[in-house]
Amino acid sequence: MQKINEHLKKIEQIINDPQPRRIDGSWQVGIDLGTADIVLMVVDEQGEPLAAFMEWAEVVRDGVVVDYIGAVDIVKRLVQQAEAKLNIEIKEAVTSFPPGTEPRISQNVVENAGLKVKTMIDEPSSVVHLLNIDHGAVVDIGGGTTGLSLAENGKIIYTADEPTGGRHVTLTIAGNQRISFEEAEKMKRAAQTNGLMAVVEPVFQKMAEIIKNHLEKFSVKDVYLSGGTFCFPGIVDVFKQELPHLNWILPAQPLFLTPLAIASYQKKRA
Ligand SMILES: Nc1ncnc2c1ncn2[C@@H]1O[C@H](COP(=O)(O)OP(=O)(O)OP(=O)(O)O)[C@@H](O)[C@H]1O
Ligand SMILES: [Mg+2]
Repeated sequence: MQKINEHLKKIEQIINDPQPRRIDGSWQVGIDLGTADIVLMVVDEQGEPLAAFMEWAEVVRDGVVVDYIGAVDIVKRLVQQAEAKLNIEIKEAVTSFPPGTEPRISQNVVENAGLKVKTMIDEPSSVVHLLNIDHGAVVDIGGGTTGLSLAENGKIIYTADEPTGGRHVTLTIAGNQRISFEEAEKMKRAAQTNGLMAVVEPVFQKMAEIIKNHLEKFSVKDVYLSGGTFCFPGIVDVFKQELPHLNWILPAQPLFLTPLAIASYQKKRA
């Protein structure tokens, strides 16, 4: 986890930084087509991040691409930015899909942006692989969806996808404060200081309950967290309060863990 946290902090520094960088050796590209953000990341053989570009993309809703052309355009732009920064030509990428949804949707977006899909993996399971989790779960709460993947004895035995995420947190703030979605989104991201927890705590409690319903069938203890919703200060304390028997593990920058995992994913030989 320590190495991964270093990578995540590095991504925070280089995100959307166009400054050219010389690279040698091989690299791989991952594209995370999220409901809130589309992120393209390039990593080297050691999984070290070389470039990361991200666009806010209200194009995928609850796991389904609603503005298909918009998503394709964003991917094309992100590809161009990474190519220019690293002086490379990107021909293929790893991409992902929410568990239980049709992988073809993401595949079409990436292909229509002019790339070959190298391999695909569902989002939370990519994190299981990145963190080498033998026994434990990944919970990825992004903008529109909550993804779950559970490993026992080094094998993924269960995945799930729920239509809840940061969007619902923002909508709750917008309703409570009588402001627009955009204003509420800004306010949420500045939550360090504005005492919003009382407003959004019931949403987090509901999320914890959803997770509990999935996990209680298994003897899981360690739960690794991913997704931008975990950037909200204090959210993990709410989860701990609701489900104290679980060991909640928050990475240094949860917003970038899933995109890093997708970019680092190597399909194992059968
Ligand atoms: N600093 C922050 N504080 C609180 N929430 C944040 C912060 N930064 C980002 N978010 C929230 O994280 C969510 C986006 O996270 P992420 O990029 O993981 O989602 P996504 O992958 O696009 O969506 P999904 O996985 O549901 O398809 C948004 O709801 C955004 O408001
Ligand atoms: Mg996501």
